[in-house]
Amino acid sequence: MASEQMEYYKAKYQTLEDLPGVGPATASKLREIGFRTVEAVATATIHEMVSAGIGETTAEKVINAARKSMAITFVRGDELVKIRSNIRHLTTGCTSLDYLLGGGIESQSITEFYGEFGTGKSQICQQLCLTVQLPYEQGGLEGGALYIDTENTFRPERIIQMAPKFNLDPDEALRKIIFAEAYTSNHQTVLLENADEVIKENNIRLIVVDSVTSHFRSEYLGREMLAPRQQELNKHLHKLIRLSRAFNTAVAVTNQVMAQPDAFFAKVVKPVGGHIMGHTCHTRIFLRKGRSNLRIAKLVVSPFLPEGETPFRITERGVEGDEDY
Ligand code: GTP
Ligand code: MG
Repeated sequence: MASEQMEYYKAKYQTLEDLPGVGPATASKLREIGFRTVEAVATATIHEMVSAGIGETTAEKVINAARKSMAITFVRGDELVKIRSNIRHLTTGCTSLDYLLGGGIESQSITEFYGEFGTGKSQICQQLCLTVQLPYEQGGLEGGALYIDTENTFRPERIIQMAPKFNLDPDEALRKIIFAEAYTSNHQTVLLENADEVIKENNIRLIVVDSVTSHFRSEYLGREMLAPRQQELNKHLHKLIRLSRAFNTAVAVTNQVMAQPDAFFAKVVKPVGGHIMGHTCHTRIFLRKGRSNLRIAKLVVSPFLPEGETPFRITERGVEGDEDY
């Protein structure tokens, strides 16, 4: 993490034992149940800790101390400006996509790429794993990537193939990508809950979840499962937001689409996940196939940018716009 960011995010308490009221026994208990760092404690809920066997008073005390230490509390407007001034844009490595996104994907929030199969969602995510490693002057975040794969689509060979375009050494680039396959939605959730230590140790500046909804969608079937599914998905996405803010990382998630049942005449698709995805993904990009090998990216939702679209291609070299040749 760059020193200027480090300064703001640096916790007053470095380890669990530094937290008031946490002795070696409580610290080891906390680690055992997955809260391994001050950041993890700060973003936990009392309920989570109590159900894992920590006394309510202790839970409240340590969470509050950790939050104070990390300044996750009420903030003044001028302080908010300072926090927001830490937001950085991560280049996609594709000029036209960057232009659409106002310079790349933002840290401290979630960017969603959704679209039908083969539209380039996973390709963009894999390219981001390389661009995140670039220096700030080149639009990177000078850090590593954490890739949570639910569909077994991450290909190290593809990373090796794309690395030269960014003047990155393929082997070194691969070393900076931490990969985890999630086998179920629960596994996916648990992976994230335990991610803060990995993020810190590896200077992770990009978290990818590809795809964020597929397990939830296939496991929670039927109308009566819709509410619990959305609840779990909501928790998962909020964990992602909290991690992105605590570590000033960018987050890219992918999502499938489904046919809109009430559209009779044209083929209309919408992203899976309903309102929950809509409310938690701050920037949403719809990808579709165009003529020949062209792909089209459409910015559908952004906190500050106008709607727009841009073409791009997936080539041997990676994800590119015409101006990148
Ligand atoms: P799903 O995960 O199936 O929903 O699709 P996706 O949107 O993630 O698609 P993905 O990003 O995997 O894009 C797949 C497309 O990328 C393929 O149809 C190919 O056209 C292209 N592609 C993938 N790898 C390569 C490659 O090594 N070279 C070239 N030229 N194209 C590739
Ligand atoms: Mg994919």
